[in-house]
Amino acid sequence: MRVLGIETSCDETAVSLIEASGDFGADFTFRVLGNALLSQTGTHVRYGGVVPNLARNEHAKNIVPMLERALEEAGSRPEGHTDISAYDEKIRNILAREPELYVNLKVFFEKYAKPAIDCIAVTYGPGLPPALWVGVNFARALSVVWNVPVVAVNHMEGHIVMSMMQVSTRQQEHSNILENVGMFGTMYKIEFPLLSLLISGGHTELVLSKEWQKYEILGATRDDAVGEAFDKVARFLGLPYPGGPHISRLAEKARASIEMTSHWIKLPRPMLHDDNFEFSFAGLKTAVRKIVDANSPLTEETKLAIAREFEDAVSDVLVGKTIRACDEYGVQTVVVGGGVSANKHIRLRLAEALAEAGLPRPLVPPPALATDNALMIALAGYFHAVKKEFANPETLEAKGDLRL
Ligand code: KG4
Ligand code: ZN
Repeated sequence: MRVLGIETSCDETAVSLIEASGDFGADFTFRVLGNALLSQTGTHVRYGGVVPNLARNEHAKNIVPMLERALEEAGSRPEGHTDISAYDEKIRNILAREPELYVNLKVFFEKYAKPAIDCIAVTYGPGLPPALWVGVNFARALSVVWNVPVVAVNHMEGHIVMSMMQVSTRQQEHSNILENVGMFGTMYKIEFPLLSLLISGGHTELVLSKEWQKYEILGATRDDAVGEAFDKVARFLGLPYPGGPHISRLAEKARASIEMTSHWIKLPRPMLHDDNFEFSFAGLKTAVRKIVDANSPLTEETKLAIAREFEDAVSDVLVGKTIRACDEYGVQTVVVGGGVSANKHIRLRLAEALAEAGLPRPLVPPPALATDNALMIALAGYFHAVKKEFANPETLEAKGDLRL
């Protein structure tokens, strides 16, 4: 089955085309035929975070070029013409809120015939509503014109599924467009109960699955998401958005330096010993702010020490709570998903703790696929498509606060 994945929940405009077969488990295989992603970080960097309406405009401008690119890479962009006269009124209505996208799509249909795809998988939540709507309405319009079904994908399930995949990959980067060349994969062995630690710019949650595609949220953050805390701390240290990778780089530098092995900077481990699976990172962020204010201008050494202590504090809390959940629910497989799962130190610390607890190593995505992409949406969508769990393109809506 050929699935076209579409992702526009935050600040990445992404389209991916995969060929997949088999059921959830050992016989599942996939091949990436085309994968296009445009990151908007350049647009949002001066605001220190994602501006929803700017994200929407960028998605509306770039989603058709990303579709063209993904199809071209797949060798599945048949020249020709798609007669949309019978649907014109309908797609104009679907794209009433994205008139520029309607124009772009019309040009696209004039140039190309229908590609060989069986289904469209699109993120319908959670995320920024104006951004989500672009992808959702785009998928609805394509579905109507091409007459292919749509699967509505929960973005967080996309992150979970991505981490379950054993990916073999070759990558190339042109300007800020990341291209994956010749990726293919199978699934790691997943045993239930499964625990997913989801850590991204918008989420921090521990999710238990007693069976595939069933989710019980054990606990989530009461305030800031962990990625958000990384980004804010980075801002205090004068580092650009998104700050996670920059903090991580400084922390690594601090750990590698002998003089830096001990330092006066100490940060709290919020809620680590509370008897629940909830998190809180706002206080940790404020503690950093106080240290920064009391010591400014910061020396390079203080910056390194803050980054390291912050990453240690976050790791202690995430690892501590994950291990507690493993104990309490007899967890067999741990998956880590979301942008922050790219963090090397968190991966390492969790792997050590799980090994100590006699559990298999955590499943994590390849770092380049930890942050948002459309491949994860195509993969998660496939597992619904095989069960014919389709959405109605007439009524499909974006849901900003969608839960697992
Ligand atoms: O999943 P994602 O791409 O977008 C959301 O759905 O939120 O996650 C983005 C977040 C950002 O906060 C970014 O700073 C963080 O992931 N991030 C990292 C690292 N790479 C990305 N945080 C810590 N360490 C990293 N290496
Ligand atoms: Zn995400």
